[in-house]
Amino acid sequence: MQALTVTKWRKMKRDGIPISMVTAYDYPSARLAQEAGVDAILVGDSLGNVVLGYDTTLPVTLDDMIHHARAVRRGAPDTFVVVDMPFLTYRLGPESTLRNAGRLMQETGAQAVKLEGGADIAHEVAALTAAGIPVMGHIGLQPQSVHQVGGYRVQGRREEDIRRLVDDAKALEQAGAFAVVLELMTNDAAEAVTKSLGIPTIGIGAGAGCDGQVLVFHDMIRYASPYRSKRFVKTYADVGTVIREAIAAYVRDVKARAFPGPEHSFEGEPEPAAQPYGGGEAKRDADD
Ligand code: KIV
Repeated sequence: MQALTVTKWRKMKRDGIPISMVTAYDYPSARLAQEAGVDAILVGDSLGNVVLGYDTTLPVTLDDMIHHARAVRRGAPDTFVVVDMPFLTYRLGPESTLRNAGRLMQETGAQAVKLEGGADIAHEVAALTAAGIPVMGHIGLQPQSVHQVGGYRVQGRREEDIRRLVDDAKALEQAGAFAVVLELMTNDAAEAVTKSLGIPTIGIGAGAGCDGQVLVFHDMIRYASPYRSKRFVKTYADVGTVIREAIAAYVRDVKARAFPGPEHSFEGEPEPAAQPYGGGEAKRDADD
């Protein structure tokens, strides 16, 4: 599979090929996503909710994003990776936005950054794209503004709201964004935005009229996700139940002295003991 590039995003829209994106936050999630054949991975600042256990994305720092995005890059070296700029690492002026986005690009090896906002941040998006940093926009529900909008509400219910969303999306396209995430908005709004742009829209909770879709890794497989009961999430597997039951079975085995059994123990054989860590990828796979 050939990795996506910025220029291919537009072509996929033109050719009517839907774009699949999923979030990932660490080596195993990225590795599984790449093996499954996603077009792109988003290291979202949803990291704060689903991995770090915060109530919102606001506490997530630039260093958190860099730490996790580096692991994602190692897990998915051949997949297009977008990294979120966390709360207030932009909006403080083009110079500091550039510096922070530069760190994300240089220190993680990602191909692009994502920023929440519309016309209000177009000048910062323009500064990034002029410096050669590909930008994905993000309009509709913007979780970094949760305290201002007063909750996670569906956007674009009124005509004037749809017009504003279209204007925001166009401002981002004009500033050089290569794609825009549309989060939690009505089908009408998402379709109006999608039709008004030459760049693709990637929806989450925005209906089938977008050019692509993104889901949060932990949501789609029920991996202890705080969002798992949301209507816009489709559950593709119930990994949380599998993991919980496996750990409970292990606890029962330990309490009953049923684990480890003779097959998991060593009786002084001449072979050196298998190394659980540090033995390299080939060694670990051979031990599976
Ligand atoms: O942080 C994130 O995971 C996101 C997606 C919801 C698009 O921004």
